[in-house]
Amino acid sequence: MIKIAPSILAADFAKLGEEVLEVEKAGADWIHIDVMDGHFVPNISFGSVVLNAIRPLTKLPMDVHLMIENPDRYIEEFAKAGADFITVHVEACPHLHRTIQLIRSLGVKPGVVLNPHTPIETIQHILEDIDLVLFMTVNPGFGGQKFIHSVVPKVKQLSDMIKEKGLSIEIEIDGGINEETIGACAQAGATIFVAGSAIYSKKDRVEALQAIKKAGEE
Ligand code: DX5
Ligand code: ZN
Repeated sequence: MIKIAPSILAADFAKLGEEVLEVEKAGADWIHIDVMDGHFVPNISFGSVVLNAIRPLTKLPMDVHLMIENPDRYIEEFAKAGADFITVHVEACPHLHRTIQLIRSLGVKPGVVLNPHTPIETIQHILEDIDLVLFMTVNPGFGGQKFIHSVVPKVKQLSDMIKEKGLSIEIEIDGGINEETIGACAQAGATIFVAGSAIYSKKDRVEALQAIKKAGEE
């Protein structure tokens, strides 16, 4: 089954609450929260105050994607703000195992994110400890970028490795997901798909979200 996680980065921040409720009604499975610090990525988005504000509005799982340096400093505040999943970039975590244990100790499900060029071997030895792997299919920092197709074989490689090891880890894809790009990733073994501009740039969010989901299930 395919899950869609709309990224509120592409929403209208002047009416953020309504924007969250609208994608929930349209059939969203998770809400994706893009946190950027202007250091790890060349853009600043928002911090835990935004998660605090929207958490009471919906029961949907909150999927927090930390695109920040030194994520250990902020993990507890995102856990307290109601994160269900926290994903950290392998490129930002020299002590990845410790960071993952910290997330889990706070009752949150941990995941690791790989930039488009980062090989899956970097997470091979932590697979037993995580619930989620998030593949970036754009360079992190901005919504609305073009999908990088060369990531797809990597997704398949990890999916095969997970099956081989008999683990239950979900694979999520982030960046440039739309009706055209979702299919190849779903076939490669991914089950969760972030979509920002492909949903929030459309007037009819039900139609946009359902079309993407349907394309992923074909
Ligand atoms: C990119 C973010 C993505 C982004 C997705 O740094 O992690 O979640 O908002 O936006 P679209 O779907 O527009 O590529
Ligand atoms: Zn993201």
